[in-house]
Amino acid sequence: MVIWLTGLSGAGKTTLATELEKKIIALGHHVILLDGDIIRNGLNSNLGFTEQDRIENIRRAAEVAKLFNDKGFSVICSFITPLNRMRALAKAIIGVQNFTEVFVDCSIETCEKRDVKGLYKKVRLNQIDNFTGISAGFEKPIHHDLVIDTEKNSVEYSTGLLLDFYVENLKKNK
Ligand code: ADX
Repeated sequence: MVIWLTGLSGAGKTTLATELEKKIIALGHHVILLDGDIIRNGLNSNLGFTEQDRIENIRRAAEVAKLFNDKGFSVICSFITPLNRMRALAKAIIGVQNFTEVFVDCSIETCEKRDVKGLYKKVRLNQIDNFTGISAGFEKPIHHDLVIDTEKNSVEYSTGLLLDFYVENLKKNK
């Protein structure tokens, strides 16, 4: 199956994706993690953050996820995926049967306070355009299968929820 994590920058997608990946490896399953920052460093290094570029970013990521998924890998995708039509695109490419959408929920205020990568600070200094949640849109997901509230829950607890969700969905798909 494919677990697609959507949420603001700083919401905790990469942290949770990395922890979940470890747990899935421990189950002995083949798993691959596709993360926005990493994919944008290589495969998608020619793309920026306009709506059009984000759509292309998501399209390519979803196509890669599908290739691995078709070969029997579980795939964790960690991308902001800010608009519902981008999430729908990923779902259409990967296939409704195998696609699950997880909303990693955290307020923009808390993401900005955390500012793990120092990006929000740069946005406030007008050094970054089209920043999700500030100068570019983020639509609350409407078709998600699970919400993880990282404002309230610890990483450990949230990872547990994700793992339970993964195992349950695998059973359903069999
Ligand atoms: S998406 O919108 O196309 O899904 P993606 O998840 O691949 O975004 O990349 C987001 C990451 O790019 C952020 O975590 C952040 O590190 C970096 N980034 C750089 N510029 C921006 C921006 N303008 N908006 C959002 N993220 C940005």
